[in-house]
Amino acid sequence: MKLKKCIYIVITILFVTAFYTYSQEDSHPTIDNTVFENPQRTQALFDHDSHNEKAELEDDCSICHHVYENKKLIKDESSEDSLCSECHFLKATPENSVPLRMAFHNRCKECHFESNKGPVLCGECHIRK
Ligand code: HEC
Ligand code: HEC
Ligand code: HEC
Ligand code: HEC
Repeated sequence: MKLKKCIYIVITILFVTAFYTYSQEDSHPTIDNTVFENPQRTQALFDHDSHNEKAELEDDCSICHHVYENKKLIKDESSEDSLCSECHFLKATPENSVPLRMAFHNRCKECHFESNKGPVLCGECHIRK
């Protein structure tokens, strides 16, 4: 009886450790999607610093964090302290004709298509759980 109990305990510990390791490996950095009402997809993968290092974008934050004045792009100025959703809304507005989802998709996918590097398929960014 004692031996059986011991084996059960060991097996339980092994399972818990395996599960814990698995879930750790499974957690990749993503972009917060809570501003979208009832998100349909999982949060998109994006490991900010490592991505920008690999893609050699560290010197130009304004590629993604741009600044506009009267709908004109102001070169070399960066809005890195703002979320995209502070200027891009869920629906187009008179001040900003690019809705939030399109802002993300255009910025991310265009460069991946053009450079022929990085994910372009839905499931490559929105990993199924
Ligand atoms: C290069 C990466 C990338 C690809 C490829 C991509 N998306 Fe996205 N998508 C994003 C990002 C970034 C957001 C905004 C942040 C977030 O959702 O985590 C987003 C947001 C969304 C949203 C709004 C939020 C939600 O979950 O409702 C939908 C819907 C969506 N994507 C669907 C798609 C579909 C369908 C495809 C394929 C046709 C696709 N995406 C391909 C990166 C991508
Ligand atoms: C490839 C696109 C890209 C580049 C290049 C980039 N970022 Fe970002 N960054 C993002 C995205 C996307 C977010 C998340 C924005 C959101 O959730 O609305 C973000 C978020 C941030 C945030 C957090 C903003 C907040 O208010 O929470 C900071 C700070 C930041 N980036 C700084 C930088 C700096 C500094 C650089 C240049 C060295 C840089 N980023 C280059 C895409 C980029
Ligand atoms: C300070 C305000 C502001 C912030 C922050 C901002 N944008 Fe924009 N963005 C604009 C304005 C204004 C336009 C022009 C809209 C128009 O023409 O109606 C624009 C245009 C765009 C466009 C279309 C033109 C182009 O460059 O291809 C994309 C894509 C885009 N933004 C993506 C993003 C993403 C992704 C983020 C976050 C990383 C972001 N924007 C953050 C204000 C902002
Ligand atoms: C100006 C170009 C550019 C923009 C903008 C860009 N990417 Fe990338 N991305 C790349 C390149 C280049 C790679 C391939 C990097 C490598 O592995 O050499 C890449 C790779 C990736 C990968 C694969 C894993 C990784 O981190 O290397 C993901 C996920 C990704 N990008 C998501 C995004 C998302 C989400 C956005 C928009 C917020 C975005 N990218 C915007 C150029 C870009």
